Amino acid sequence: MGTRRPRVIAALAAVSLAAACSPGGDGGDGDTTGYPEQNITIVVPFSAGGPTDTVTRMIADPMAEALGGKIVVQNVEGAGGTVAAGQVAQAEPDGYTVLMHHIGMSTAPALYKDLGYQPLEDFATVGLVTEVPMTVVARPDFPPATLADLTTYVKANQDKVTLANAGRGAASHLCGLLFQSAAGVKLQEVPYQGTGPALTDLVGGQVDFMCDQTTNTSGQITAGKIKAYAVTTPERVKSLPDVPTTTEAGMPQLQVSVWHGLYVPAGTPPEIVQKLSGALQKALADQAVVDQMAELGTAPVTAADATPETHRGHLEEQIETWGKVIADAGVQAS
Ligand code: MLT
Repeated sequence: MGTRRPRVIAALAAVSLAAACSPGGDGGDGDTTGYPEQNITIVVPFSAGGPTDTVTRMIADPMAEALGGKIVVQNVEGAGGTVAAGQVAQAEPDGYTVLMHHIGMSTAPALYKDLGYQPLEDFATVGLVTEVPMTVVARPDFPPATLADLTTYVKANQDKVTLANAGRGAASHLCGLLFQSAAGVKLQEVPYQGTGPALTDLVGGQVDFMCDQTTNTSGQITAGKIKAYAVTTPERVKSLPDVPTTTEAGMPQLQVSVWHGLYVPAGTPPEIVQKLSGALQKALADQAVVDQMAELGTAPVTAADATPETHRGHLEEQIETWGKVIADAGVQAS
């Protein structure tokens, strides 16, 4: 990943770019018509093998094919996804460093006092990718049998029960907060670098329960390796027909699904952003991608949602929504 020049210089460059921009070129130091001329890196802010990584790897090859180039996926873990986002915010705005992030992009400003980047100022949105339901899941031998039992059990065992997540600002963290608030408990949280390793520990019985995306948990639920209490969406998930919704299971307050989107550093030439967005739309229409997502309980967004404009509007709305929820919950990460 290239290191970005200082913010002020980058901002000035963006201004001169906008002034000089002509169709098919960036008006600055390079013609974008040949893009991509080198490998593109998509940075994943969580561990390999986890849900964000899975979705990224699904679309990387079809996107590369649409662009006529090569895409490399790089995992940069830490601090609920904020380490990776901070690095990409500072990367060269040349279209060769792209960030895949999820709902955590919209929660970080409220959670982290010293975030070091501003989602709306330091990034250009490329397009939404998918929206993934979450599941409330537990180690196979965890005593509670249903979500109602789980609530009763955690109330009685608050000092013992462990709740895994992928760090402050991760989707698993948010969902865990909503669960604790609905159940009226404060549990011991065990943070991981991603829910990939957290799930391994859940299957192995090292932690008790967690919320995680169906893209990570579906296979283990179907194989009977973990216990599933509920899905966090209004409707049941087709690939998990026996798992009730949180509303059916008596906890309607626990509603959250995890939207994902692609970002590039602010100042990336608009023609490149459009090329990436077009490639994303093609990848999401690829039948193999549609099928893989369906198997894991999700679906690609429409072509209209895989655009910079829709993605930006959604990000703005989500920053506002989660800002209020987090302020009400009084949670801070730093
Ligand atoms: C991951 O990829 O590990 C997850 O998306 C983490 C999370 O947000 O819970």
